[in-house]
Amino acid sequence: MKLFLDTANIDHVAEIASWGILDGVTTNPSLIAKEGKDFKETVLNMCDLVGCVSAQVTAEDFEGMKKQGEEYSGWHKHIVVKVPMTTEGLKALSSFRTKGIRTNTTLVFSLNQAILAAKAGANIISPFIGRLDDAGEEGMHLIADIMAAWKHYDFDTEVLVASVRHPDHIREAAILGAHICTLPYDVFLKLPKHPLTDTGLKKFLDDWEKYKK
Ligand code: G3P
Repeated sequence: MKLFLDTANIDHVAEIASWGILDGVTTNPSLIAKEGKDFKETVLNMCDLVGCVSAQVTAEDFEGMKKQGEEYSGWHKHIVVKVPMTTEGLKALSSFRTKGIRTNTTLVFSLNQAILAAKAGANIISPFIGRLDDAGEEGMHLIADIMAAWKHYDFDTEVLVASVRHPDHIREAAILGAHICTLPYDVFLKLPKHPLTDTGLKKFLDDWEKYKK
């Protein structure tokens, strides 16, 4: 399973990348706006740290998405163009596929949307599970549906679990065989923790101190 960081904060990318387990970064316009830094510079700084950085188009029409996506993909080979799940987005995905531009389809909330994006040639699809949970649905059921459907076909589109809210989402996504999870920084910091690790280490070190005396 690949683990991505969902952020536009370069310090956070540097910290998690230093653990040696970070496979990529996903950004979106809200995350970029939150940090308030230059978009291109932010994305390029991240490309120096990880091999896969999703940069989202903000145009809503096909021509605009095409123009932005082609520009972004020329900035760095690590850039994946993120496209919203709309009919214009589908047209853009097909166009990017013919040009060999890697894509991630965002704002996927149903299996039918996932299938359309995969057929249009998306390299990655991003179902938003936390927002489904927030809306009173069970977001992880969508991942289960997509992974079950993927077994019947030969889509090579990777399923990226997005809008993650807590560590158990990663555990559930892994059991379902999702290819990628993108995690907010605070969730990433919780992943290595277990109280029995802390108490176990303390006992080892206390015993070591006694032994040395
Ligand atoms: O990667 C998509 C993600 O950023 C959405 O997360 O927490 O805004 O639902 P959230």
